[in-house]
Amino acid sequence: ATNRTFTMLKPDAVENGHIGAILEKITAAGFKIAAMKYTQLSKRDAQQFYAVHNERPFFGELVEFMTRGPIVAAILEKDNAVDDFRALIGATNPEEAAEGTIRKLFATSIGENAVHGSDSDENAAIEGAFHFSGREIF
Ligand code: CMP
Repeated sequence: ATNRTFTMLKPDAVENGHIGAILEKITAAGFKIAAMKYTQLSKRDAQQFYAVHNERPFFGELVEFMTRGPIVAAILEKDNAVDDFRALIGATNPEEAAEGTIRKLFATSIGENAVHGSDSDENAAIEGAFHFSGREIF
C-alpha cells in the first residue's frame, strides 16, 4: 500500500553541498514529496526528536551535530515507503552501507551519516507530525 516515511537531510549533507544530489536519488527511486522544509533544529527540538536515544553515550554529540546547521525535513510517499527508503539510504554506518546507497555515497561517519529515515510506520507518523502541520502536508 502507499504510505509515508519521514526523512531529514542532516547538517553534514547540507554543508557538503549534497541536497540536490540526494533529492535526485530520492525522487528517481519513486518517492513523492508530500511535505518539505529547510530549517534548523534548536537544542530542545533535537533532544525531543531523539529522546529515544537519550541514554546513549553519543546523545550529546548527536544533539550538537543535528543543531549545528540547517537541515532539509521531508515527508515522502511511496508503496512500502519505510522499508524501501531504509534500503535506499543503507546502513547507519556508511562503512557497512551497500554500494549505491545514499549513505555509502554521501555520509562521512556513523554519526554524520547524511540522512535520517523513519524505522516504522508509527515513528514516521510521529516524526512527520513533529515537523509539519496538516496544511503543510500534500
Ligand atoms: P539515525 O539512525 O538517523 O538516528 C540516530 C542517530 O544517532 C543515527 O542516525 C546517527 O546519526 C547517530 N548515531 C548512531 N550511532 C552512533 C554512534 N555510535 N556514534 C555517534 N552517533 C551515532
